[in-house]
Amino acid sequence: MDIILLGPPGAGKGTQAQRLEQRHGMRQLSTGDMLRGAVRAGTPVGIKAKAVMDRGELVSDEIVSELIDAELTAMGDDVGAIFDGYPRTAAQASALDEILARHGRSLDHVIELVVDEDALVERITGRFTCANCGAGYHDSFKQPAKPGVCDECGATEFKRRPDDNEETVRTRMVEYRAKTAPILPIYEERGIVSRVDGMQAIDEVTGNIDAVLA
Ligand code: AP5
Ligand code: MG
Ligand code: ZN
Repeated sequence: MDIILLGPPGAGKGTQAQRLEQRHGMRQLSTGDMLRGAVRAGTPVGIKAKAVMDRGELVSDEIVSELIDAELTAMGDDVGAIFDGYPRTAAQASALDEILARHGRSLDHVIELVVDEDALVERITGRFTCANCGAGYHDSFKQPAKPGVCDECGATEFKRRPDDNEETVRTRMVEYRAKTAPILPIYEERGIVSRVDGMQAIDEVTGNIDAVLA
């Protein structure tokens, strides 16, 4: 099964994708994570992407579609994919169709996380992740069970994203409204869009997504 999680910055795409990986043995394909990996590694893609990401704008369609194609090739055809933060433009949506067809795959569900934009700035500016395993946390909504210690791996180092400041978040939202929200009708025409209320507690959102996938 291949699915897209669609929603603005802070909607909970990464949080829910990590849970789906654990519950359904699927694989999270986050172009944001891939790009941040490239920035850390200092690859040519990373060097190009860094400034664009720090401004909250979108990197080029070609770059992200190549990253997705390479990941799908590496992971093999028997594991389901959760697309997180991709596609984000009409060009990426048609690139994904072409890439999936080439891999003999197709989309089963597009899950739109419906959220109230005003709440997102707080979600994003409070977010932090484990520096070792990447598990996601939040200052107010999801602290580790033992303060300062990752629930998943026991590490004690955490980090915050450079683009998680209010000004950049606003630009990321403008980009979402202008370029990403308009791709929904492509999938609505195919009858594969389900809406989930992303303002509920994290567990409830997961339950609603499970119901769509069942
Ligand atoms: P990307 O990494 O994809 O960021 P984003 O879309 O802005 O989304 P976020 O990761 O900020 O939010 P999320 O929905 O994953 O929320 P999360 O689960 O963490 O992209 C970053 C940049 O890379 C882009 O700006 C662009 O430059 C570039 N890029 C990436 N992909 C691209 C593409 N395809 N094309 C072009 N450029 C691309 O949740 C947020 C916080 O809220 C967490 O702390 C979490 O614990 C908390 N939370 C989650 N759910 C709940 C809940 N239900 N209740 C309370 N708190 C919650
Ligand atoms: Mg994310
Ligand atoms: Zn960890």
